[in-house]
Amino acid sequence: MTPNNFSLREATTDDIPALLSLLLTSFRRFPLFDILYEPLHTNLDHASDTIYFWRWRLKSSLLNNPSAVIVVAEVDHSVEIPLDLPASSEILQIDRDSWDMLRWVISTAGLSQCTKVNGKTVVGFAIWKWEGIVGEYKEGYRGNSMVVRVEETLMNILSWLYKHFYTRKDQNVPLYKEYLLSETEMEKQYHRGSFLLLDNLCTDFRMMGLGIGTALVRWGIESASAKGVPIRTETTENNQAFYEKLGFLKIGEWIMSNVSDGVDMTLPIMEWI
Ligand SMILES: CC(C)(COP(=O)(O)OP(=O)(O)OC[C@H]1O[C@@H](n2cnc3c(N)ncnc32)[C@H](O)[C@@H]1OP(=O)(O)O)[C@@H](O)C(=O)NCCC(=O)NCCS
Repeated sequence: MTPNNFSLREATTDDIPALLSLLLTSFRRFPLFDILYEPLHTNLDHASDTIYFWRWRLKSSLLNNPSAVIVVAEVDHSVEIPLDLPASSEILQIDRDSWDMLRWVISTAGLSQCTKVNGKTVVGFAIWKWEGIVGEYKEGYRGNSMVVRVEETLMNILSWLYKHFYTRKDQNVPLYKEYLLSETEMEKQYHRGSFLLLDNLCTDFRMMGLGIGTALVRWGIESASAKGVPIRTETTENNQAFYEKLGFLKIGEWIMSNVSDGVDMTLPIMEWI
């Protein structure tokens, strides 16, 4: 596949099934997500909670939050995407997990990566957030109307009830709580001033290494340059080289203690200026 075979555009709510599918099959290969959502390894059906909560989160980003922009990469029919696990004796566990989840996502959850928008297949996404900058109105954005505020209040009440009375099946709940606390501390130190935050980045596991992730990050680089602000993101050590290739520098470390069997996890904090 050449870079000309895919294109980028801003996502709409029609892309939510594709985003959920990519999250479960491909973003789960991000080591931090993998640890926080560790119950997905033991029972694929736990992913119905991931779908439920992330659907809310994506919908809210797409419709109510002018500071969030989700960019998707898509390919047309001429690009062949494997539909089955390759026949090889040397399949890594990480690939096996992705293929198992892909089958579950299609058959049980009924999610398709082929969008209703134009019949193309979504093969990657980046979630960007303008921090300290007022975001721009987008197509479909519902503004700060009374209806939206009432809906947000109801959502907040519902999410409070869930937090207190429902144990999510898809998450390692104690670790997730620790993660949120530790993230707040890290943000106090590093999320200062105005910048573009890269919140999530993902390429379809069947299409990695073809330049899609690079193109998605370049979209952010162009947008941040136009506004004269830096980009920041937190990543894991295995991805540091990917960001360095794109001109990012490591500006700090976020240490999450005791993530598994007493072992700490070091998350490099990367900045592009
Ligand atoms: C990280 C990720 C988005 C990269 O996307 P991608 O489409 O495979 O990246 P590209 O094809 O644009 O890669 C560009 C270059 O970086 C390299 N690269 C990609 N991921 C890398 C990694 N984790 N470590 C080192 N190099 C990497 C590629 O080999 C390629 O090198 P080349 O230019 O010499 O050919 C993708 O691997 C992914 O979705 N991973 C799982 C989720 C995740 O970890 N997201 C990042 C959260 S911070």
